[in-house]
Amino acid sequence: MALPLRSLTPAPPDPILGLTETFRADTRPEKVNLSVGVYVDDTGVTPVLPSVLEAERRLLEKAGSKGYLPIDGRPGYKKAVRDLVFGPDHEIVESGRSATAQTPGGTGALRVAADFLLQTGSSKTIWLSEPTWPNHPQLFTLAGFALRTYPYLDESGRSVDVGRMLSALRSAVPGDVVLLHGSCHNPSGVDPDTETWAAIAEIVIERELMPVVDFAYQGFGFGLREDADWLAGLARPGLEFLICSSFSKNFALYNERVGALTVVAADSTRASSALSHLKIAIRANYSNPPAHGGDIVETILTDPALRAQWEVDLAGMRTRILGNRASLVKALVAAGIPGNWDPIGRQRGMFALLGLSADQVARLRDEFAVYVVGKGRINVAGLTPANIDHVVAAVKAVIEG
Ligand code: LMR
Repeated sequence: MALPLRSLTPAPPDPILGLTETFRADTRPEKVNLSVGVYVDDTGVTPVLPSVLEAERRLLEKAGSKGYLPIDGRPGYKKAVRDLVFGPDHEIVESGRSATAQTPGGTGALRVAADFLLQTGSSKTIWLSEPTWPNHPQLFTLAGFALRTYPYLDESGRSVDVGRMLSALRSAVPGDVVLLHGSCHNPSGVDPDTETWAAIAEIVIERELMPVVDFAYQGFGFGLREDADWLAGLARPGLEFLICSSFSKNFALYNERVGALTVVAADSTRASSALSHLKIAIRANYSNPPAHGGDIVETILTDPALRAQWEVDLAGMRTRILGNRASLVKALVAAGIPGNWDPIGRQRGMFALLGLSADQVARLRDEFAVYVVGKGRINVAGLTPANIDHVVAAVKAVIEG
């Protein structure tokens, strides 16, 4: 029996993770990987956070069981995540009108969200920001959605184009799903301000849209609570939405695949119905979640001292990235590279979009061994004292032709 396609030609490599494979095979000593969004320190290493190491030590001492987790994850984890996302005293928490399920990473949460929506009769249209994380279109298309896009950035590529974004969202049909980046927009690092979030929420209500908030960087922007400012607009009586959390970045637990999907429903009865359907989506996908990453997160979030340590660890990553932004802007300006670089210093999260052509991105890689994604998305955390001069010189060379 042959594979279903008569001539099975190779698929293109993943636009982000595929680049890392090429990077690994690159033998040039000056190579720099600014592609995948993984935090590294000044020595280029992705550290295991001190709070994570301590949590793992405690878990080892407990010698738990390797039996299956519940389909939707451990209750303690689910509660800890809910409190982290909303804050423990939030109306959504106190009314019990949300349901959380543990998922393998933020990507797992997005896929379960997609399946859950389609299997419960959602509109098959999803609106994505243009640009967005390259895995969004692929993930939602393969789940069965038709894609629409809303313009996100103005011509400078450095600010949200509020007018065009809102007017595109106004043209959505009631029931359509709209994917919003909760903080630290990927790939641009440019987020809506409070007023814009309020305007988005108004359109969500007016057009009866179903928001899915991709919340992969809580704490990487301004702080844990500050990065949830989008919530103020959406947390209104009766409004329903989904939140996909990732703990890859803020706990640096990339390879443990730990995340969560939270459904906010109009009331607690609808929330428990939603959970029953989430369980079906999960059971049909991967049955139940892996335990270790979730156990680490739960251990940290439920122990006051470990939680405090984690907040210090997280602030350390956030502050270093901000420092890198400042150094990058300074170096780009000092090198006299034409462009408006200042806003990069004010943007948040892991990424900055340099606004390069496909040709310039290819030259960065082929001539200078500098790996960046798409239209010049760089992982700002990947800049180190040892590589920044090389990166800036390479950017100057490709921009100046
Ligand atoms: C990224 O955008 O680089 C990260 O979110 C990693 C990934 O899975 O693509």
